[in-house]
Parts: sequence; structure tokens; C-alpha cells
Amino acid sequence: MKRHRSTVPLLLIALAVAVGATALGARAAAPARPAPAAVGVDDAVDRGARALLVEGRRVFRYDTFGSEAFWGGKLRLHEAIEGQALGGVGQGVSPKAALALGLKVDSAALPAAVVAGIKNGSVSLDKPETTVALLKLNAVLGVTGTFDAGKTHLTGLGIQCALCHSTVDDSFAPGIGRRLDGWPNRDLNVGAIVASAPSLKPYEELLGVDDAAVRGVLKSWGPGRYDAELDQDGKATRPDGKSAATLLPAAFGLAGVNLHTYNGWGSVTYWNAYVAVTQMHGQGNFSDPRLGISIPVGNTMVADVHRTLIKGGIFMYPGTTGKPAGKLRLMYECNPFAFIVEVAGGKATNGVQRILDIQPEHLHQRTPIFIGSENMVQECLSYLKTEERE
Ligand code: HEC
Repeated sequence: MKRHRSTVPLLLIALAVAVGATALGARAAAPARPAPAAVGVDDAVDRGARALLVEGRRVFRYDTFGSEAFWGGKLRLHEAIEGQALGGVGQGVSPKAALALGLKVDSAALPAAVVAGIKNGSVSLDKPETTVALLKLNAVLGVTGTFDAGKTHLTGLGIQCALCHSTVDDSFAPGIGRRLDGWPNRDLNVGAIVASAPSLKPYEELLGVDDAAVRGVLKSWGPGRYDAELDQDGKATRPDGKSAATLLPAAFGLAGVNLHTYNGWGSVTYWNAYVAVTQMHGQGNFSDPRLGISIPVGNTMVADVHRTLIKGGIFMYPGTTGKPAGKLRLMYECNPFAFIVEVAGGKATNGVQRILDIQPEHLHQRTPIFIGSENMVQECLSYLKTEERE
């Protein structure tokens, strides 16, 4: 009996140890011998995270959001950079002048010959030609020039988030070095840069004041400051009479701090959209009833079909119950794109027939459209057919 009593606990202990060992063993072994499916998912998540980071960095550094239409098209800043001698207006902006305005140069974008040239003085930092050459190399942080077919003449200018929210480590020279994404550029004189534009008409019209008044406000900001609300409230000063321009903040993001923007208007996502559309004048949509802002999507078909041509995919503007013919115009929106996309090997249909086969009846006629990669348009048509049957 005594023997029996002692055996049970021993067995239990042995069992417990065995179970524990198995559980621990299983836990310890998990990373070494994962199920094959899990490896695939983890890899896919890692790849996805990496791809998102790369894409985000590209957008932050290089995406102008179509802001060329404003900075080049309306303010004609590119003409001020070139100067009269190169076909623009005024003195032109040399790299020295650009650096003095706080603009920064990405040394990683400079070819060895240019680096050597700057060092030995054969590349002049006093000539607007060099600024144009730097823009051609996409070496100026937050500013991208567009060029004519011959790549000699600046035809426009767009800006990026990196303009105000990044700087360099000065490793090559003051203002020239490796990029520091997210750091605020406290040397950047946004107001003086904008005030160098040949035309400030959009601000004059918006604020109902003359050119001199707009330039006066812009020049009052000073380095490292920008008034991101001037175009909304029209107020150049705070209630205490000081400039309403705000110190440029870092944009690394403050994870976990809700509504952490300086002004507390909204989240970072909200603010990013506000800036990209209302301040950078990028092409996109933004609305906030509190501010009475409603900027509808402009040129979305142009941007979307352009993306579809490069990456593949589909763009559609179907008919709706209220608007059975959709929104887009057959003659000057759908037909030209249908032609381009078909030549590129894609397809364009209104759901029933080829866009290019539609007999026009009047100039402003509308049509639903499904346009893009052949297989996706085909798949879309198969859903439309199923829909009809149901
Ligand atoms: C012309 C300069 C300028 C450009 C270009 C710019 N920003 Fe800003 N950004 C500012 C200023 C100034 C503020 C602070 C505004 C305020 O609170 O009044 C700000 C605020 C922010 C904030 C909030 C930071 C905080 O802690 O409050 C984020 C995030 C941000 N910007 C991201 C972006 C992104 C993304 C882009 C590109 C789509 C962009 N910005 C383009 C000047 C700029």
C-alpha cells in the first residue's frame, strides 16, 4: 500500500514533466520548424512592409502630386530659377542663392564628375545653369523640375513633402549632404522662395489684396516658418500682431499620440491630405466642412489611366441609377484614352460595346467606361453580364 501510494505521485510528476517538456519543446522548436504555410505568410508580410516603406519614401521624397500645375504653371517659379539669360525672367537663382534660401542638395544624387567639379571649382555655384543642372539630376530636396524634350530648358516645377520636412547632414558642404527624411528644414525660407515667383496672382485673387501685399506677408515669415492656413483664413498675423507663420515641425510621426498635429485639427493622415491638396496644390481631393473646404478630385481619369498604362490595372466610371450614362464625355475624354489604351494592348468598353465603336450623337455625350488591361476589362465584363442576368 505504501509502495502504491508513492507510485501515483511519481507517475504524475513524470507525466507532468513529460507534458511540460513537450509544450516547452514545441514552443522552443516553433521558430526552427514552422509550418510551411506560415513561412509564406510571414515572408509576404515582411515583403509587404518593406514595399510600403520603399513606396512611402518614394512618395515623400519624389511625388509632386501634380503640383507643377501651381508652382510652375501659375507662379512660374521655374522661370525665376532660369533667369533671363536662360529664357526665364530676372537674375536667375544660382546654387549659392538657393542654398542661402535654405534649399538643400542631396549628395547621393550627384555623379562623381559633378562632385569633383564642385571640389575643384570647375562647376560654378554662382550660375543659374548649375541650379538647372542640379534639378535635372533631381538633387534638390523637395523640388523637381520638368524639362523640354531636349532636356535643356525648364518647363515647370513641382514640390514634395521633403521640401519642408527634410534636410541634409552637411557631410559634403553646408547644405549639401545625405538626406535626413522627416527632419524639419529650419533654414528654409519658404516665404522668400514663393515671393521670388514672377506671379502671385492665385494668392492675390484668393486674399483680395495686391501683389505687393502678398509679397510683404511672404517675406515676413523668415527662415524655418510657413503659414499653412493663410489661404484658408486670410490672416497674416496672430491676434497679438505677430506673424501667423508656424515653425516647420518634424514629420517623423508620433505614434500613439492621437491628434498630435501642432494645430490639433486632425490626425496625421488628415493633415497629410490637407497639405498635399490645399498647400502643395497637388491634384487630389480634400474636404472638411468645418473649414468650408471642398476640393473635388480633378483630372482623376488622366492620373488613373496614366498609372494603368504604366502598372496595368483598370479604371472605371460606370453608369449609376441617377446617371445611367456616367460622367465622362465620349468625344474628348473616353475616345482619346480608349485609343491610347487599345494601341498599348488594352481594352476600353462601355460594358456593352467598344468605346471606339460608339456612334457619337452629340459633342458633350457621356458614356460609362471600363478601361485598362485586357484581362481585367474582360473580367469586369463577365461580372457585368452576371449582374444583367440576376
Ligand atoms: C511648405 C512647407 C510644407 C510642405 C511642402 C509640407 N509641410 Fe507638413 N507642415 C508644414 C508646417 C508649417 C506644419 C505645421 C502647421 C501648423 O500646425 O500650423 C506642418 C505639419 C505637418 C505634420 C504634423 C506634424 C506635427 O507634429 O504637428 C505632418 C505629419 C506633415 N506636415 C506632413 C507633411 C506631408 C506628408 C507633406 C507632403 C504631402 C507635407 N507635410 C508637406 C509645412 C509643410
